Order: sequence, then structure tokens, then C-alpha cells
Amino acid sequence: MTLDQIKALVRTVHDFPAPGIQFRDVTTLISHGEGLAAAVRHLSERAAASGAAMIAGMEARGFIFGAAVAAQLGLGFIPVRKPGKLPVPTIGVDYALEYGRDRLEIDPGAIRPGERVVIIDDLIATGGTALAATELLRQAGADVSHALFVIDLPDLHGADRLRGAGLTVDALLSYP
Ligand code: PRP
Ligand code: ADE
Repeated sequence: MTLDQIKALVRTVHDFPAPGIQFRDVTTLISHGEGLAAAVRHLSERAAASGAAMIAGMEARGFIFGAAVAAQLGLGFIPVRKPGKLPVPTIGVDYALEYGRDRLEIDPGAIRPGERVVIIDDLIATGGTALAATELLRQAGADVSHALFVIDLPDLHGADRLRGAGLTVDALLSYP
């Protein structure tokens, strides 16, 4: 399946979750077996080429693609979670979103120092989420040099912000 065919499976919902937001909805992509498999295969090829030793994915949509890529490559998966979910002492960081604020937390014990952890999420908009995840994983000792997304919204300059933090950024699709 080509990237254009994958793009045709992503639904756009206007004015969600707030007026003026064009929400790029991957639920229609993941409900399509061949589409999901193709997206995971494309991401996995790029993650393998970037030398990933582990994959990290951000709650919630990053869990879907990140865990699938990790399983495909036989790598471990680190869940980067919303607050109060992990049952052990965590490190956390607050961040801004295209439509609000949130907080992410990880278990610092999940990472071996110097290990290359590749970040995977469904979408990068302002980059706040991915930058927060990068900061946390680096605090825990990870080598974070690559971030992969299904969708980039380049007008919001998140990928540029990530590149400014020293990451190589790649996405399968971009809008508009
Ligand atoms: C969405 C998306 C990314 C993030 C991107 O998640 O899945 O994680 O926004 O936005 P940013 O680049 O501006 O940070 P959201 O926070 O809506 O949470 P969800 O996955 O739980 O729906
Ligand atoms: N997360 C942040 N901005 C988004 C958008 N426009 N569509 C889907 N998820 C998003």
C-alpha cells in the first residue's frame, strides 16, 4: 500500500476538539487491517534504519503505532504516560498542546543508560508532546536522536522545534 493510499484512510474532522481545529483522525486508518499493517511496516523500516534499541510511544495514540512497531522489530516498548498512571516513582514534565495543556510521565528505570530510544506517535503538531517525551527520556539517560510520526502538520512547526533539539524527524504523511 502506498503512502497516498494510507493518507486516503485518515479522516479529517472539522472543529474538533475546538473551533478551527482540523482534526486528523487515525481511527479510520487503524480500523483498516491492510492500512494499519502498511503504516506499521513503513514506520518499522524507518525505525530499524535509525538504529533503534527500544521504541517509546506517547499515550494514547502513540501506543497503537509504537507498540506495533516495537513488536514487528522485536524491540521493547516504553509507554510515555499521562499523569498518575504508572505504579512506580516517575519523572514528569508539563507541556502545551495545539488545544490545551497536559503532562507526561515515564518510569526512569525502563531505560538503560545510553540506549537508543526512537520516539513514535501518530501525529506531530506543535511538537510539545514529542519535546516533552524527548526531555524525559534524555533525563532518564536515553540516546534520543530520531522521532517518527504517521502525520506531520508542518504549518505548526513541531518538526522544526524537534530538529532544534537535535532530533532527526520523519513522517509518513503531511497536511495540508
Ligand atoms: C495528540 C497526538 C500527539 C499530540 C501532538 O495527542 O496523538 O500525541 O496530540 O500534538 P503536539 O505536537 O502539539 O504536542 P493528544 O494529546 O490529543 O492525546 P491522545 O493521544 O490521548 O488523544
Ligand atoms: N493533535 C494535535 N493536533 C491535532 C490535530 N490537528 N489532529 C489530530 N491530532 C492532533
